[in-house]
Amino acid sequence: MNDKKNEFGFSTRAIHHGYNALENNGALIPPIYLTSTFAFASTEYGAACFAGQESGHFYTRISNPTLALLESRLATLENGEAGVAFSSGMGAIATTFWTLLRPGDELIVSRTLYGCTFALLHHGIGEFGINVKHVDMANLAELEAAITSSTRMIYFETPANPNMQLVDITAVSSLAHSHPDITVVIDNTYCTPYLQRPLEMGADIVVHSATKYLSGHSDITAGIVVARQELANRIRLQGLKDLTGAVLSPHDAYLLMRGLKTLALRMDRHCSSAQLIAQYLENHPAVESVFYPGLPSFAQNALASRQMKKPGGMIAIELKGGLEAGRRFMNALQLISRAVSLGGAESLAQHPASMTHSAYTQEERARHDISEGLVRLAIGLEDVEDLLADIDQAMERCT
Ligand SMILES: Cc1ncc(COP(=O)(O)O)c(C=O)c1O
Repeated sequence: MNDKKNEFGFSTRAIHHGYNALENNGALIPPIYLTSTFAFASTEYGAACFAGQESGHFYTRISNPTLALLESRLATLENGEAGVAFSSGMGAIATTFWTLLRPGDELIVSRTLYGCTFALLHHGIGEFGINVKHVDMANLAELEAAITSSTRMIYFETPANPNMQLVDITAVSSLAHSHPDITVVIDNTYCTPYLQRPLEMGADIVVHSATKYLSGHSDITAGIVVARQELANRIRLQGLKDLTGAVLSPHDAYLLMRGLKTLALRMDRHCSSAQLIAQYLENHPAVESVFYPGLPSFAQNALASRQMKKPGGMIAIELKGGLEAGRRFMNALQLISRAVSLGGAESLAQHPASMTHSAYTQEERARHDISEGLVRLAIGLEDVEDLLADIDQAMERCT
């Protein structure tokens, strides 16, 4: 099946896009090109590849047929022009920042971000002359006031890890683009293109930790960028090639493509189970608050319905007994594992203040809306009755 871009449905493209078995010895599954380098037919051809006059593969840090197939599948699923694959989500994010930002530039980001992204901003690029400003993106007037002639990028997660706050992608992109030279970059890890497609809402670049739902089995680390061809070329040829070298292995690209085939099925299950669990938690007397976009009580429930196809598989909760009750609850879980990460078949529980968001100081967490007692649940693919029973017995033991 050749590239009839966007003619087929989401899952058909996730399974078939860009590959024709009959052009590959009949191999139903695309071969893995386990090679670091590629032979040149002539010295002149090799020189033309390096000069950008030939488009052939010549070194896997720059391109490889297995990576190229994965990248084209992610690009079509995000409805973008081109993808670039990385060895981790942080590799994708760091490479995007290093490629597009220069000393003196301003980067505006939302209040709450994944802990290592926060660390990259404040202990990484912020120390190289890039001015990082956190803004409450729900407040467009605050965002407008923060933009200056040096602002080059706006970056956010929606929903934010770990507190689930949403940002209106259409509104922020349209405000950003009313100013010259601002690139809007969105971390779409929590949603995947099955639930939310930021490029269709005006964003310029989507980044992912493909370690999570995209690969779906908690067995690789990977990252993806999808953008216009020109931006993707820069991120590949300046950023990936020369600045970070954070390339994905072809073998892991194969595993990622295997995971992608079931993305829609898995996301439907993550969402339906999370919805039932969030409803259960909301009615439990030991629970102070539940943050889940699918609950009518969620402050941004209307925005969630507008920009997300379904509310996702992530839930954040606060127990009435705060941090201590949260610890007791997590320690009492028997089926759900105490582990960071998300997006796999196994349900996980973690404590952001001491785990994924420990790069923030306690004072920074308070300023960035990450409460000390918050517990984050990544709902997996087990039978929801078993997950509810585990949560129920853990709640009994923590009160
Ligand atoms: C929202 C988000 N973005 C980026 C990352 C970083 O991805 P990786 O761990 O693949 O480097 C994570 C990891 O947890 C994440 O949750």
